[in-house]
Amino acid sequence: MSLFSHEFHENSSDEFGTPPEFVRPLADAVGGFDLDPASGAETVPHASTRFTEEDDGLSREWYGKVWLNPPFSEKTRWVRRARSEVSAGRVETAVILLPVDTSTQLFHDHVTSAPVVCFVEGRLSFDGGDRNPNFGILLAVFGKVSEDLLDALDRKGTVYHDEDRHERAQQQQLFSNGGGER
Ligand SMILES: C[S@@+](CC[C@H](N)C(=O)[O-])C[C@H]1O[C@@H](n2cnc3c(N)ncnc32)[C@H](O)[C@@H]1O
Repeated sequence: MSLFSHEFHENSSDEFGTPPEFVRPLADAVGGFDLDPASGAETVPHASTRFTEEDDGLSREWYGKVWLNPPFSEKTRWVRRARSEVSAGRVETAVILLPVDTSTQLFHDHVTSAPVVCFVEGRLSFDGGDRNPNFGILLAVFGKVSEDLLDALDRKGTVYHDEDRHERAQQQQLFSNGGGER
């Protein structure tokens, strides 16, 4: 039995809402989210269009700027869909909330391919009852990333941008070729 009676594990349930005060700065930074394809548990809408389980967001058309906190029981399916919509040009930007778990295939196959990843500082208390998550979260962004969005992410935690990763890789190569000093 858990030490914390209300502890929330990432596999406990799909019905937890992202607090509006967490999403709002990100929405403002992108000029408002057009679509929240996996919705229902939130207390306040995060996007102008929402698809609930009844609508089945996976069977609908996606477009514009997307906020996605997927059902955690099916994360990979939703992340794959978001990536394919971005690749097809139907979704301009997808901001995806996920638990941080570097042991998963989801992390290595998808999160590490995101142009921008923000590791959120602190624990987010989700809406929908007593929520005491036992996991940290990240925000993976696919598609267009504006300076405003980078700034908003920066205020939430540590941001890795693929340009930085590229620079770090180049530096490492320089060092291994004897071209730099530590
Ligand atoms: C983790 S909650 C996130 C809710 C909200 N988007 C937010 O960020 O606060 C995931 C939601 O997706 C809903 N959901 C589950 N299957 C779905 C489906 N096939 N289509 C649309 N929504 C679905 C769940 O009912 C749940 O409310």
